[in-house]
Amino acid sequence: MRSLKLLITVAVVLPCVVVSASKKLLSGGTIIAFDHETESLKVIRGGSILIDGDRIEKVFETANEANASVPIIDTSLETGDSASSVEVIDCTNKIITPGFIDTHRHGWQTVFKTMGSNTTLPDYGWRYSAFVAPPLFTPDDVYISQLIGLYEAMAAGVTTTLDHAHHTWSSDAATAGLRASIDSGMRVFWAYAFQPLYENFPIQEQIAQWKELVSQVTGPVTEVAVAYDFWSDSPFVDKSTTDRVIDLLKTSQRRIRAKSDKLRYSEYKPLLTTHHVEGPWLFGNSPQDLNKAGVLSSSLPIVFSHSSFIDTASANLLRATNKHISITPESEMHYGHTHPTSHLILDQASLGIDTHFTFSTDILTQARLYLQSVRYRLFQKTLDSWKVTANSPFSVNQAFLLATRNGGLALGRKDLGVIAPDAKADIVVWDGRSPALLGWADPIAAIILHASVGDIEHVLVNGEFKKRDKKLVVEGYDETVDKFLEAAERIQDALRKLPLPSQEGPFLTGAPYGLTETLDVLRGDGDGYGPQFV
Ligand SMILES: *[C@@H]1O[C@H](CO)[C@@H](O)[C@H](O)[C@H]1NC(C)=O
Ligand SMILES: *[C@@H]1O[C@H](CO)[C@@H](O)[C@H](O)[C@H]1NC(C)=O
Ligand SMILES: [Zn+2]
Repeated sequence: MRSLKLLITVAVVLPCVVVSASKKLLSGGTIIAFDHETESLKVIRGGSILIDGDRIEKVFETANEANASVPIIDTSLETGDSASSVEVIDCTNKIITPGFIDTHRHGWQTVFKTMGSNTTLPDYGWRYSAFVAPPLFTPDDVYISQLIGLYEAMAAGVTTTLDHAHHTWSSDAATAGLRASIDSGMRVFWAYAFQPLYENFPIQEQIAQWKELVSQVTGPVTEVAVAYDFWSDSPFVDKSTTDRVIDLLKTSQRRIRAKSDKLRYSEYKPLLTTHHVEGPWLFGNSPQDLNKAGVLSSSLPIVFSHSSFIDTASANLLRATNKHISITPESEMHYGHTHPTSHLILDQASLGIDTHFTFSTDILTQARLYLQSVRYRLFQKTLDSWKVTANSPFSVNQAFLLATRNGGLALGRKDLGVIAPDAKADIVVWDGRSPALLGWADPIAAIILHASVGDIEHVLVNGEFKKRDKKLVVEGYDETVDKFLEAAERIQDALRKLPLPSQEGPFLTGAPYGLTETLDVLRGDGDGYGPQFV
């Protein structure tokens, strides 16, 4: 395998040189901007955005104003000083939004696509999870599966992802997934999962590798973070394991203040993420558990994934410590861990995807599903009290903020998920003349309720085109796809040969299994459930 150091030189140093050479002007579009003063979305019609390198330099209210103050040099003439040249991208009839922010994903699982169309959470655990997957994957498979998964997300307008990377069952597998994240060009918070599950790769070695990776990866768009799912008292985990993780998080914090310390990881404030699912699932990892462990009130950004069944005490802790949850609407509906209470803590919430091999990869779909499912839930309460619904409880603006700015806040980044001066230039340009959108007046409603990822024309990450004119801008796409398809076919073949796991007796955490009612779409004796065509 190529050395990580070499890669980082290529992946990190090169874009810096390229971005400083030019500015870009997104000219004359409808911009869904954010006003930090009023803390609200602001729609600018016929405005322009000036991008300088990796940042938004200015948002102009009119294209005229932009044209008057930006010295446009025709780059096609190849005259003039390239350092001050501005590339103009005509955005007439386009809607310009920030890139979507996904605060929970497992990118390495792309090769399983369509295998789990009706999987449940226990079924997933025994068939596709990091407990059982290691023998199916070489490090190269992890690489290609992660890379294609990130391409898929980026093509769908997701510019930032928090990847809960539990493909860390060996040092080579860990490195491969990180390398793919860097190579994707997407903004990835790659959260190395510390897992006391692998005899040949104990937690001490995982932590040692994490420190090494942190000191090697210094941006600009990939960050190494921490994932840990064993906070709660559990017979499966030795307390000293959790203590090591706590120690790592605290040490990195303590040493931030010691500016004289030259070790790079010592200046590092890692983001932390954990799967928090309660109700009968009893996975633990609640804000209360992290509070007990003494890490919740730290200054680290912390993201609790799902937070299904979150209660008042945990919600209050999130507000007091300014930590966030990642609601993954489609996952929670698909697998059955649901989200009965997460709408009560939307002020500390963001949206995520989870296992994109089983459903959509895009945050737009999550925002739409969540918006309508919460409307349903709240309307139901009114109807249950025999009243007729008089207002709508949840707006498209709120759904849009969850999909964008709230994600940035969850990651501790005010410069992500917004179009505003000084924000990172992570931007999506939509075709406002596509059949789906024709007739739009409100651009936020147009995106949240009518657009699809097929309407995305351009995607920029860190000021660079990653999708342009509806095509991904990636080198060697066809060869990468061929490699991916070979791995997917091989891994799916191995999976097909494994018997379906039994779901009888008690579940891992003690609660019994319960059969869910199935439905009928056929008259007569059949029910239409049918086989999986895999
Ligand atoms: C601004 O300049 C661009 C690039 O020269 C041009 O395409 C556009 O029509 C101009 N817009 C206005 C409103 O003058
Ligand atoms: C999914 O569908 C297949 C084929 O109909 C069936 O054998 C399997 O039991 C289903 N799995 C779950 C978890 O319902
Ligand atoms: Zn997950």
